[in-house]
Amino acid sequence: MKFFVDTGEINEIREAAKLGILDGVTTNPSLVAKSGRKYMDLVKEICEICNGPISAEVLATDYDGIMYEAHVWAKVAPNIVVKLPLIEDGIKACVTLTGEGVKTNVTLCFSPTQALLAAKAGATFISPFVGRLDDIAFDGMQLIREIRTIYDNYKFKTEILVASVRDPIHIRDAALAGADISTIPFKVFGQLLKHPLTDIGLKRFVEDAQKIPKGTMIIERDAALGKK
Ligand code: G3P
Repeated sequence: MKFFVDTGEINEIREAAKLGILDGVTTNPSLVAKSGRKYMDLVKEICEICNGPISAEVLATDYDGIMYEAHVWAKVAPNIVVKLPLIEDGIKACVTLTGEGVKTNVTLCFSPTQALLAAKAGATFISPFVGRLDDIAFDGMQLIREIRTIYDNYKFKTEILVASVRDPIHIRDAALAGADISTIPFKVFGQLLKHPLTDIGLKRFVEDAQKIPKGTMIIERDAALGKK
């Protein structure tokens, strides 16, 4: 499974990239508004940090406006993915952009039939929002399982990009469901790594390592590192 970070905060992207396992970045108007940055400046900076797919969303909701903005975004960098809303004009734009070879991420997906339409339109990525479905007492992960089955049934190439992720359980379940990507809030990246038993276990290993007779591997390592 590929890991994208879902944020408008440049420091969070830098931190996530340091782990060495960051495959891409997604942004949306709400995240960018929260960052206080100009959208174009922010996206250009993100493209310098990460060479994986960078989703930049159109703000227009009519076909001509969407196409205009999509062409502006597409010129920013070769790894730009144009994020389109899952509405009639968004789907039409997706068909056109696919024909032009522009990568697309169709967002705000809440049903399997919406995902089917996006795939038929040639979307590179589909973004189902699991957390927002859970919020209204629907099973967000069931949507991922259904989209996976539909895409496999017809061999659609569109990648399932699980969005609106709230916790590590979402990541586990998305991986079990065979989703291609999770786009993860920075806070959840940290939660993926942490386990109290790992910390307790490591503390004990470090303490016990001091009891290993000298002249064995630890001494050799210290010598190799130039320590006395
Ligand atoms: O980027 C879209 C999505 O991840 C938004 O998540 O938490 O606002 O539902 P959320």
